[in-house]
Amino acid sequence: MFRQAVVIFVLFGCTLAGLIEPRYKPDDFGGRIVGGEPTTIEKFPYQVSLQKGGSHFCGGSLYSPNIIVTAAHCLQSVKPKEIKVRLGSANYQSGGEYVSVRSLKYHEGYDSSIMTNDVAVIRLDTPVRYSNRIQPIKLATTNPRTGAPAVVSGWGTEKFLVGSIQKILQQVQVDIVSMADCSSTKYKYGSQVRETMVCANVEGGGKDACQGDSGGPLVSEGKLVGIVSWGNMCARKDYPGVYSSVADLRSWIEKNAAELNEQ
Ligand code: ARG
Repeated sequence: MFRQAVVIFVLFGCTLAGLIEPRYKPDDFGGRIVGGEPTTIEKFPYQVSLQKGGSHFCGGSLYSPNIIVTAAHCLQSVKPKEIKVRLGSANYQSGGEYVSVRSLKYHEGYDSSIMTNDVAVIRLDTPVRYSNRIQPIKLATTNPRTGAPAVVSGWGTEKFLVGSIQKILQQVQVDIVSMADCSSTKYKYGSQVRETMVCANVEGGGKDACQGDSGGPLVSEGKLVGIVSWGNMCARKDYPGVYSSVADLRSWIEKNAAELNEQ
């Protein structure tokens, strides 16, 4: 019952974020993402924006000149032809490269009712040229330990449900919570957090990814450790943000990136 409610919240929230266009709030200098701050693409050159009809709907990370890693739940109702990817710009609406998509594949074990294996790869129509604004990120080979510092970035909302998609890329520093700790009684997810997931939060809440950040990068020690996947609302004390574990899903990513490139 509770699990269903969470799944409805996650999916409803994510769908809604895709429909909300930016609203400008000149006196709001507080947190975007949740509790974060605006940043530059030079600091996050692997961050990309996935767009449909010019609207940002999910984040992603550059893995190679023509492959993007994102979340499976981002791609459930879209065809390659409908998606465009913006790379090399902190403003999701302009600048950098705006590239079409040739093909995509999401994990065959992705289960939307429990959010396991929430990972996908996208092949760009044309490879991009690397610069100080466009750089790939290495995949983590081992899961980070609880307490390791990490950073999550994206154009997602600054509040759950009532927030809006941000025009300028936002970042927030969080701490890793291992899958085992995240499913412990310290938090309230229990067995909803499973293998292939990793969590991140700050003590007391207030900093997190939120709707529209999905598919985007959680980076620790220079490596992609997580993909923004789900959470019970955003930035709540008892509910860390939940990410797909890149270390657990790395071999799938490598194999499927190679396969997309052979087509
Ligand atoms: N599912 C959301 C999306 O599609 C991301 C939710 C992340 N939530 C969180 N509390 N970290 O954008």
